[in-house]
Amino acid sequence: MLLETLRLYNFKNYAEVELNPDPKINCFLGKNGSGKTNLLDAIHYLAFTKSAINPTDTQNIRFEETQFLIKGRFSVADRQKEVVCAFQQGQKKVVREDNQDYLKFSDHVGKYPVVLITPQDIELIWGGAEQRRRFFDTLLSQLDRFYLENLITYNHQMKQRNTLLRRFSESGSADSELLTSYDHSICIAGNYIHQSRKSLFQEFIPKFKEHYRYIAQESEGVDIQYRSDLEQADFATQLKNHVQRDILLQRTTCGIHRDDFLFLLSRNELKKIGSQGQQKSFLISLKLSEFQIIAEKKGLKPILLLDDIFDKLDDDRIHHLMKLVAEGMFGQLFITDARQDRSRSILRNAGIDSKIFVVENGNLTVNG
Ligand SMILES: Nc1ncnc2c1ncn2[C@@H]1O[C@H](COP(=O)(O)OP(=O)(O)OP(=O)(O)O)[C@@H](O)[C@H]1O
Ligand SMILES: [Mg+2]
Repeated sequence: MLLETLRLYNFKNYAEVELNPDPKINCFLGKNGSGKTNLLDAIHYLAFTKSAINPTDTQNIRFEETQFLIKGRFSVADRQKEVVCAFQQGQKKVVREDNQDYLKFSDHVGKYPVVLITPQDIELIWGGAEQRRRFFDTLLSQLDRFYLENLITYNHQMKQRNTLLRRFSESGSADSELLTSYDHSICIAGNYIHQSRKSLFQEFIPKFKEHYRYIAQESEGVDIQYRSDLEQADFATQLKNHVQRDILLQRTTCGIHRDDFLFLLSRNELKKIGSQGQQKSFLISLKLSEFQIIAEKKGLKPILLLDDIFDKLDDDRIHHLMKLVAEGMFGQLFITDARQDRSRSILRNAGIDSKIFVVENGNLTVNG
């Protein structure tokens, strides 16, 4: 799958820009704040119908303007497809494929798979369980449309259930029958999500360990453990048994919204004992495993977006990563770097040809 043309109109710091990326390797080089990450974010937007950075669309419109538009022409299995995401202040966002508006954006996610590696990924290690769940949800959503639908249903029903719990607590009287009326759909969606996470995880972990061994060239044992309330007992029974506790605490105290994935290095928490380079290698290995699983399951290589990837990696690790690039493991690739000379020399040393776009204040020039 290739992105052949990308066009932005009033998206973030771009007034109007069109670019024709190389089918293989593209570099966006330019100073801090010039707009390199914004370009990757536009590609992410076309894949996921949302920004990876800012969930508030009004803030993604160029300052002083009232609407933005992102247009991408993709080629998938030799067929051309045009995807448009447009947002106008005060109106509903529009996502369109070949001039046909989507009614549900979840029908779009996964058609044009993208894997993004960004400095913000560090939040997967440092942040709460929600961040780690989101990583696996992003992967599963691209593989299985029903997963995303179930997740949306689960979150919606859970919100309603929690509102009811708060109301019970405030009024001092509880109607457990009303409460359990939500449990049926919560259980169906929750069990689907749990089973999907569990079976994905079994496939994921050996791939992840292999990538880490390769990138870090380390025998140091990395591991991930999946923790879920649903491993303890049947979900429906747990919901029923915890009603009193839920009312007391005004929230649902069991379910897949509490799942976590523990990141370990030598059986200790990675956050506590991992060096910056080890943490970065861990994150890259997570993302490369995501890439590999999508490529295998969908039979097409996702577009890989590497934002500031060279920071914090030592020369050996960069060399191993670039070897994968040179060997053609990936499909289309977009790399950003604020240090032009560094990227140019890394690619030159690895014998990799690339199309270079120099980014300056929301303007692009093709250079080399
Ligand atoms: N809605 C918006 N309208 C106009 N400019 C915006 C908007 N949102 C963000 N920007 C601008 O985009 C710029 C940041 O772009 P981006 O994050 O792509 O930079 P970068 O080139 O990746 O920088 P770095 O090297 O520091 O990562 C900032 O100057 C910011 O002010
Ligand atoms: Mg950036």
